[in-house]
Amino acid sequence: MESIIFSQSIANDLVGFISRQDFSQLGLIMDSNTQKFCYPLIGEKLPKHQQFAFDAGEVNKNLSTCSAIWQWMTDCGFDRKALIINLGGGVCGDMGGFCASTYKRGVRFINIPTTLLSQVDASVGGKLGIDFNGFKNHIGVFTEPIAVLISDEFLPTLPQEELRSGYAEVIKHGLIQNADYFSSLRSTDWEKQDWKSIIEKSVSIKKSVVEKDPKEAGLRKILNFGHTIGHAFESFYLDSERHLLHGEAIAIGMIAEAFLSYKRMGMPEDDLNTISQMLVKIYGHFDFPKENIPAIISLCAQDKKNEGAVINFSLLKKIGSCEYNIHINLAEIEEAIAYYISLKN
Ligand SMILES: NC(=O)c1ccc[n+]([C@@H]2O[C@H](COP(=O)([O-])OP(=O)(O)OC[C@H]3O[C@@H](n4cnc5c(N)ncnc54)[C@H](O)[C@@H]3O)[C@@H](O)[C@H]2O)c1
Ligand SMILES: [Zn+2]
Repeated sequence: MESIIFSQSIANDLVGFISRQDFSQLGLIMDSNTQKFCYPLIGEKLPKHQQFAFDAGEVNKNLSTCSAIWQWMTDCGFDRKALIINLGGGVCGDMGGFCASTYKRGVRFINIPTTLLSQVDASVGGKLGIDFNGFKNHIGVFTEPIAVLISDEFLPTLPQEELRSGYAEVIKHGLIQNADYFSSLRSTDWEKQDWKSIIEKSVSIKKSVVEKDPKEAGLRKILNFGHTIGHAFESFYLDSERHLLHGEAIAIGMIAEAFLSYKRMGMPEDDLNTISQMLVKIYGHFDFPKENIPAIISLCAQDKKNEGAVINFSLLKKIGSCEYNIHINLAEIEEAIAYYISLKN
């Protein structure tokens, strides 16, 4: 498992960590926003390094950006002892890590997640990859960074809707593993949360799950709660003008999958109402034309968690407890989406 360092002073901790590594060259991958907002927090203190910045956004988490990154690594003359730092959100960490772990069969990399989402979720667990032809995270590998340095010093410049998007994963951690954590989240307005303690708590939940099942043979699937239907929404709206952020899509998915949990797992109706009300209050209600539903359902069937024709879900028995490998059919998914739509007023 990678070492996760909760930092109070990111520049000092990063420089300290790097000084203990043996490397030939240092390369920094970021996106256009983290170059502007996050690089200044560390850039001056870093030893000599090369930089690459790609245009921000999920639409650029693709093969053509990878190609540009691999070209840059080649132009810089990086050998297998090069050390890469990914400075950015989940897009940068997933794609920069993927490029590093495939370049010359793999060079070491450090992740410095700069969004709440990537701090509490994407940076832990070694899943790397890119989107391909409209399918989310379709191409990728499992490789651990040599370290993840997490600091809330980056959060003040993060747009509010991005902070809110990351918060969906935090809520998910409570729902799948820890009912007390979930109620403590409910007792405070989301904007007023103490991010430092939330990050530490959420990382510890994710880490404990991943440590027990690194390759997602079983238990790790509980982290996919909300993601089977959520990813379908995210994929469907990937190229459209009305873009859905990852956490916004997962909030829809958690409501629909909470409904499936109620129908199939005997989750109490009170839990369903609590979850739906909380998520709609924070994320609002996403309006979409009914004619999109069949395409969204068929995207659920593309999800990587499925074995053959069976659609595998991770569903709640109650708030704080989740089970995996629950087989759901397309008609049930349609009903779950209809439940989400019914919450509109
Ligand atoms: N590998 C995993 O286990 C895992 C888990 C969850 C999500 N993901 C992936 O993560 C991605 C979503 O991550 P994300 O929400 O971090 O998206 P992101 O990387 O696109 O970041 C969101 C936006 O915030 C900007 N930004 C980042 N840090 C900033 C800062 N400190 N100040 C100002 N702006 C900043 C970025 O430039 C971008 O515009 C998705 O591609 C998803 O598939 C991966
Ligand atoms: Zn997620």
